[in-house]
Amino acid sequence: MSSIELRINGKDVRRSVEDHQLLVSFLREDLGLTGTHVGCDTSQCGACVVSVDGATVKSCTMLAVQAHGCSVATIEGVSQTTSLHAVQEAFQRHHALQCGYCTAGLVITAIDLIEREGSQLTRDQVAHALKGNLCRCTGYQNIINAILDAAKRLDVAAQAAE
Ligand code: FES
Ligand code: FES
Repeated sequence: MSSIELRINGKDVRRSVEDHQLLVSFLREDLGLTGTHVGCDTSQCGACVVSVDGATVKSCTMLAVQAHGCSVATIEGVSQTTSLHAVQEAFQRHHALQCGYCTAGLVITAIDLIEREGSQLTRDQVAHALKGNLCRCTGYQNIINAILDAAKRLDVAAQAAE
């Protein structure tokens, strides 16, 4: 067992974990943050994507002990209010989900992409960025539309706030 301290969705957390425990299992089973999903055991589906120190990570590929000292963001933390994050709203507006199993990982991936590229984001860039996120339901077009729309709306909101 090891003691780890990390920040999760803005809150400090201190726990003991088995050295072999995966981050995704720590989030889901120890902390009850079940919005992060497990869709495979081969690091392919992206349902488990979270943000660790500002970079997207498949949390099934990382040990909980490796997150010691890190700041982790999960789908539960993307909106600190009762309203949805702009990316979540765009997914809703564009019908970019069906069963929703992939959605948390896609939203975390999309937020990271928009933060890096802003409204200059192209359709090809979005498609490339989603290569690590599998969706078996939607066919991706509406997901890409939603991400491009959210990037534009966030840019307009940022300009209005200046
Ligand atoms: S559960 Fe992590 S990539 Fe599929
Ligand atoms: S909405 Fe079902 S897997 Fe993506």
